[in-house]
Amino acid sequence: MTTKVELNASANASEQTQIPNPPPEHVAIIMDGNGRWAASHGKPRSEGHRAGTENLRRIIEAFIRHGVRYLTLFAFSTENWNRPDDEVQTLLELVDSVIRSEVNELHSEGIRLRHIGRIDRLPTDLRRSIRESIELTKDNTRLTLCVAFDYGGRAEIVDAVRSMIADDVQAEDVNEDLLRRYMYTNGIPDPDLVIRTSGEQRLSNFLLWQAAYAEYYSTSVYWPDFNEAEVDRALEAYSRRKRRFGKVR
Ligand code: IPE
Ligand code: IPE
Ligand code: MG
Repeated sequence: MTTKVELNASANASEQTQIPNPPPEHVAIIMDGNGRWAASHGKPRSEGHRAGTENLRRIIEAFIRHGVRYLTLFAFSTENWNRPDDEVQTLLELVDSVIRSEVNELHSEGIRLRHIGRIDRLPTDLRRSIRESIELTKDNTRLTLCVAFDYGGRAEIVDAVRSMIADDVQAEDVNEDLLRRYMYTNGIPDPDLVIRTSGEQRLSNFLLWQAAYAEYYSTSVYWPDFNEAEVDRALEAYSRRKRRFGKVR
């Protein structure tokens, strides 16, 4: 005869042996902590931003190996324009030089590039780099890499509403599906996992609409120190999450 204690024990065992989640289809990362990384090494903030570009290729490859199909990197927010001019300049130049130096390699790896955010406030050269890299890689299918630059979740919603009004969308036709199609991320599935480095516990205006049901993972590691082992850790934590989407399991 099965006792109550045994029943509880077997319920616990089945809970523990539950099948882990499959890998996330879409991972979005708030790459934070470059400035603090630099300070902790006695270097200027610009060196932190530079160091924060050196791990990119390895991390992208690690996510591909784990079966991730969409990766979004938050590189510059609509609020980051409020930083000192020289820091903004460094960040604009850095993203342009990374795109130029990496685009051929990314293309040969089968990576499709997308930009999410406002493009009209960026310098002409950077706009051109972004447009050319998107055009070059548009047919690739191994991974979609979205670079969120001059991105803000609130600006995205405002832009979506403006575009709907410009298209004469009628109030009764507005629903979640339609709004989703007016977002910068049109055609990209919602993120399953949002990772933030440097220990901060906030979204900072990132993917406000899309991350409604994303799992959130925060690590104290500064972005330049985020490596393949950290990718493994984040995905391992994700695999153990119980995603309920408001339902009862
Ligand atoms: C992230 O690092 C890069 C950007 C926001 C552009 P930070 O520059 O925010 O670094 P901390 O948070 O000051 O350490
Ligand atoms: C968020 O980081 C933006 C990016 C990582 C690009 P911030 O460093 O700008 O965010 P706050 O100011 O700490 O909220
Ligand atoms: Mg920061």
